[in-house]
Amino acid sequence: MLPRPLETEPLSGAAIADRLRALDAWLSEHAPLWEPRPFVTWRPAWWDDAPDLASWVQTVGDGPIQALEDDLSSTVGLPERLASLARQAAALTELAPLAGAQPTPRGRGVKSRKGEQVGGFLAATEHALRGGDAVVVEWCAGRGHLGRTLSERLEREALLLERDPSLCAPARGAPERSGVRHVCVDVLDDAVHHALPDRGAFVALHACGRLTDRMLDVALAHGASAIAAAPCCAHRLFGALRYAPRSAIGRASALSLDANALRLSVLDEASVSPRDRARRQREHWLRVAVDLLAREATGADEHFSFPSAAAEQIDLPLVEFVDWVRRAHGLPVPAGWDPDQVGPAATQQLRVIRAGAIVRRVARRPLELWLALDRAQSLVEAGLEVSVGTFCARTATPRNILIVGRAT
Ligand SMILES: C[S@@+](CC[C@H](N)C(=O)[O-])C[C@H]1O[C@@H](n2cnc3c(N)ncnc32)[C@H](O)[C@@H]1O
Repeated sequence: MLPRPLETEPLSGAAIADRLRALDAWLSEHAPLWEPRPFVTWRPAWWDDAPDLASWVQTVGDGPIQALEDDLSSTVGLPERLASLARQAAALTELAPLAGAQPTPRGRGVKSRKGEQVGGFLAATEHALRGGDAVVVEWCAGRGHLGRTLSERLEREALLLERDPSLCAPARGAPERSGVRHVCVDVLDDAVHHALPDRGAFVALHACGRLTDRMLDVALAHGASAIAAAPCCAHRLFGALRYAPRSAIGRASALSLDANALRLSVLDEASVSPRDRARRQREHWLRVAVDLLAREATGADEHFSFPSAAAEQIDLPLVEFVDWVRRAHGLPVPAGWDPDQVGPAATQQLRVIRAGAIVRRVARRPLELWLALDRAQSLVEAGLEVSVGTFCARTATPRNILIVGRAT
């Protein structure tokens, strides 16, 4: 596949369906590479089909792995087959900003990042939301910064919907600006329909997983004048077993996305401190050691899964950690196992797992964009005029794709 030229315009009209089809074909073709999870499947079937890549995964050292983990967009040091796939993925996920000017990053603090997200969302949606007097409905509003800002800028009433009472302004006794109502409600509950105006302008900044789909359904049912959604946490399915494709192209796709597959689309989320990273690495090493023991004890090449461990357990020496997993979670342990053998074997296996994760992540952004475009295309099919692009820099949030639809 030839890389496409860089996008200079947000996707709209037929370009949404074209890109969705291209992503769908690419993701389906390379599914054997990204579907198996390296932590669970130690020897994926693709090792037989791509021996060069398999050999790299099994031999690459800590230094190059760390460098590639630190710079998610780097292809330096990747084997040619993987570098080529990464170039294809980059071309397929090229996306222009929705607004002409993106706010310049100022600081790195959480508050300033939220400010950049809200400012970018506002700039990217103002044209679609301008005109008329539609009530702005902010879905999963949290503290409601976005809805309040839109209300002020557009001089509109706003309804901010949020489940958590500690985030709702009235529950906190905070004064509210005139024309803004912050309502404590579970948007998955049917009762939400009673709270909604007809022909509202529905907006959602990072409504997790299926909550975004719920907004699209509810907004269409209420004849929304405009819809703007920046999805996040795709794997949060709230009881569903897999993502339910919304568009005709999505429904015809061979992809079947359960929570594990969907989690890949947000795997770049956490920028962790060196201390947290070291702790996470230790937990992974302990888990791999546990897995080695379970595989040896049972003779089955199967992952031993158990719930997350508390900090005090992660600090335990290997022998005590294994004993805790045996007592708490029924880990089968071979008689007379030697920690001096299992420890280094876990270190080596964890290196292979981390390298496998680098291979898998080539599909991360394609999957994220596929999900956004499936939602966008469903709005096109519902008769809306739709654009898809970025609304802020990735430094403000990695979940920076925005779908904007306007009733015609
Ligand atoms: C990732 S936060 C985003 C908050 C806000 N939009 C922002 O960008 O700061 C997701 C919000 O959805 C809320 N939420 C989760 N499930 C919900 C539900 N079923 N009904 C209403 N709100 C919900 C959470 O409490 C949380 O405030």
